[in-house]
Amino acid sequence: MQRCGMRGLVFAGLVLLAGVVLTPDARAQTAAERGKYLVMVAGCTDCHTPGHFLGNPDMTKYLGGSNVGFFIPDLGTFYGPNLTPDPETGLGKWTDDQVIHALQTGERPDGRVLAPTMPWRAYAGMKRSDVADIVAFLRSLTPVRNKVPGPFGPSEKATSFVFKILPPGG
Ligand code: HEC
Repeated sequence: MQRCGMRGLVFAGLVLLAGVVLTPDARAQTAAERGKYLVMVAGCTDCHTPGHFLGNPDMTKYLGGSNVGFFIPDLGTFYGPNLTPDPETGLGKWTDDQVIHALQTGERPDGRVLAPTMPWRAYAGMKRSDVADIVAFLRSLTPVRNKVPGPFGPSEKATSFVFKILPPGG
């Protein structure tokens, strides 16, 4: 009787422990996993993966830079650059803080403010921890060597596909 009671107690204890230990574990997500989810819902893939806007995204160059740029009158043509950790053509040489800063203020390390097509004003409202998770995911990507064209000045000819904003009657 007493042994049975002890067993019951031990069993109840184990169930409780499993609940405490396993429940958070089962839901745990690494920073990079959460970042992947945020990248998906924030639509980063669309503007930063070649072929996406042509209906045929090249997943071997996932987030490796777009081949479709955006033309904005008086500003120029801008292609979503390579976000993979490649040091020459991607974000490999940027520190995490520089990427976070660009996403929250639109300012690149060289001081240039990103064209409005890059929706940093929307991303500026994200919690810093969310932005850090996005950066953790970008850091986990396989580096892709791909330099996007441009940016081109307003009167320069673009060398790849372009979305154009035209003035009325244009
Ligand atoms: C609607 C298209 C669009 C979406 C969506 C978008 N971007 Fe961009 N992004 C751009 C364009 C275009 C540029 C280049 C702008 C420029 O050079 O002025 C850019 C630039 C950047 C830069 C600066 C890189 C560099 O080399 O200068 C980073 C970092 C970046 N985007 C990250 C992201 C992330 C992360 C997301 C999703 C949370 C995202 N972008 C979503 C279009 C987009």
